[in-house]
Amino acid sequence: MEFIDEMHFLQMKKNFTRYLITSALPYANGPIHIGHLAGVYVPSDIYVRYLRQRGKEVISICGSDEHGVPITLKARQEGVTPQNIVDRYHEVNKKAFQEFGITFDIYSRTSNKIHYETASEFFKILYEKGIFIEKTTRQYFDEEANAFLADRYITGTCPHCGNGNAYGDQCEQCGSSLSPQELIDPVSTISGNKPVLKETTHWYLPLDRYEKWLRKWILEDHKEWKPNVFGQCKSWLDQGLQPRAVSRDLDWGVPVPVEGAEGKVLYVWFDAPIGYISATKELTGKWEKYWKDESTRMIHFIGKDNIVFHCIIFPCMLKAEGSYILPDNIPANEFLNLENEKISTSRNWAVWLHEYLEDFPGKQDVLRYVLCANAPESKDNDFTWNDFQNRNNNELVAILGNFVNRTIVLTHNYFKGCVPEISDLLKTDSEVLDEIRNIASRVTDSLENFRFREAVKLTMDLARLGNKYLADTEPWKLIKTDEARVKTILNISLQITANLSILMDPFLPFSMEKLRNFISFNEISWDLLGSHELLKAGHQIHNAGLLFEKIEDEQIRAQKDKLLITRKNHLKEEPVKEQKPEISFEDFSKMDMRTATIIHAEKVPKTKKLIKMQVDTGMDKRTIVSGIAEYYDPASLIGRKVCVLTNLAARKIKGIESQGMILLSENPDGTLHFVTPADEAVNGAEIN
Ligand code: 2FM
Ligand code: ZN
Repeated sequence: MEFIDEMHFLQMKKNFTRYLITSALPYANGPIHIGHLAGVYVPSDIYVRYLRQRGKEVISICGSDEHGVPITLKARQEGVTPQNIVDRYHEVNKKAFQEFGITFDIYSRTSNKIHYETASEFFKILYEKGIFIEKTTRQYFDEEANAFLADRYITGTCPHCGNGNAYGDQCEQCGSSLSPQELIDPVSTISGNKPVLKETTHWYLPLDRYEKWLRKWILEDHKEWKPNVFGQCKSWLDQGLQPRAVSRDLDWGVPVPVEGAEGKVLYVWFDAPIGYISATKELTGKWEKYWKDESTRMIHFIGKDNIVFHCIIFPCMLKAEGSYILPDNIPANEFLNLENEKISTSRNWAVWLHEYLEDFPGKQDVLRYVLCANAPESKDNDFTWNDFQNRNNNELVAILGNFVNRTIVLTHNYFKGCVPEISDLLKTDSEVLDEIRNIASRVTDSLENFRFREAVKLTMDLARLGNKYLADTEPWKLIKTDEARVKTILNISLQITANLSILMDPFLPFSMEKLRNFISFNEISWDLLGSHELLKAGHQIHNAGLLFEKIEDEQIRAQKDKLLITRKNHLKEEPVKEQKPEISFEDFSKMDMRTATIIHAEKVPKTKKLIKMQVDTGMDKRTIVSGIAEYYDPASLIGRKVCVLTNLAARKIKGIESQGMILLSENPDGTLHFVTPADEAVNGAEIN
């Protein structure tokens, strides 16, 4: 069947004949959690499966990103080599993806020989074309370790807030991004010594020279990109681009292939996206038709922290090289939180895929379903165990499982599992048959536009429709009086079932395969969708087994307890801070603290932690900047009551004047939470 929609029209216009789908290469320095799946890999897999069902020529590329400073840091902590770390996690993650039915055509790795060759070659071409700017700057060097120090290897005192443990790239306390030379009393984390400044030369990609071209390519030619992606690109472009260093002084990575560049490697964000190219080469000798032929549609699936690299830097690299195609779309998701808090690897605040499978064996589809139904598509979103249980019990079991089960059981009870004949159609029947087509076409439209939440909801609407049809027509009552009518009803219900097994396959691949076994049907071609004769009269179906089972309260409680223990353990490790020196009542009463309400909140651009808020203090409306973006989503703050220290001298944070301070409790592990006033306290109420 033919679906003509805007996107489809666009594709026809551009004449794409094949697809190259890439999914962000996860760092091989830790296992995969639900945030990774929801942000990148579930949507990309749904899309790839859908394309395959449509018979498109498509390859799906992924692999491990095995370079970068965090990997060397982890290796140092464990006293092993970086290679040892990446070997371990490459295998762990490859297996986790397979277990969850993420069907990459290749899961490669950037420590491969072919990748070293490809990345070196790429750099050399740009180098020989004279694209790079060579710049000598002074950077911190550890004389004992005889090594230049990456930003993360330097700590010191933050010039903005006085935090003694700020990193060379960022202060975790106040959220400012820093450069190592801004730190007061810098210390090398390798030797504990004071580092010295030493000259070093690096190669820079002059992004500023591509600004005009990027403005046209993104802001004019790709207005269809998702608003979160388009918005971030626009804000980068509006702030003006700077040349970016593409090499580092480090002993782990792809060596810079230029004479006199000993001890220098390619910056991880230079080599990682080239990893998509090397992986394609590893997969097929015909890699060039995917990368160099304008009829290929390249799509990058990524998380929001990767937007600038995939929308600005990598396209500039490809453009500078000159023989490659550019991505046509870059559907990035926002972040997934867990039970209202940011997922954090270091605090173990996550649901790890391997642990999930131990606790819920065989339930990969349930997690795929929940993560898609609740995907952080346009804003950060929350995964909660209650929602997981509800969606399983009230949707997968009660709607989908129930409909399929009733249809198959009734067919066995009344017709020995043989698909009955259809006879005269009533208006209800025709309406239901039309609706199958209608839903299929809407799911297609949603998928084409990367609206996966909407798509999965629509598929469930088809199962809902099936249930309603059975409830309205009541075949179990009619069987004694009107067998012909029951035949028609069950024939139609079976056609809905077969349509579901195709339509839901990208989302629930394990369960739909099971379902097709129940009904002895093995077609998954998208072109068949909407057909009313997927199962011919006389076709014999098998018995139904269990598609989904209820998840009990105890199982959910166990998961929540696990998180509670994680939190407690983490807090236990950190001693509660000592009491500060005594103050007088007079000192205390100098502070003017009030109840207030947040009326506006937005992220401060280019910072990880800062949120700028407008608060109503009862006396006035004022701006306050606070380092809470790791814990709260700005959108969730509007209308929230808080306590404010109002007479604190105003200070500038990232150029914004912050007029007061919102009171936060800080756990020993540094996690922050609002101090929340009682509901009855009005704006301006004094806190004494
Ligand atoms: O953010 C990350 O996990 C990166 N390793 C993604 C790299 S994507 C690509 F460029 F390789
Ligand atoms: Zn600071």
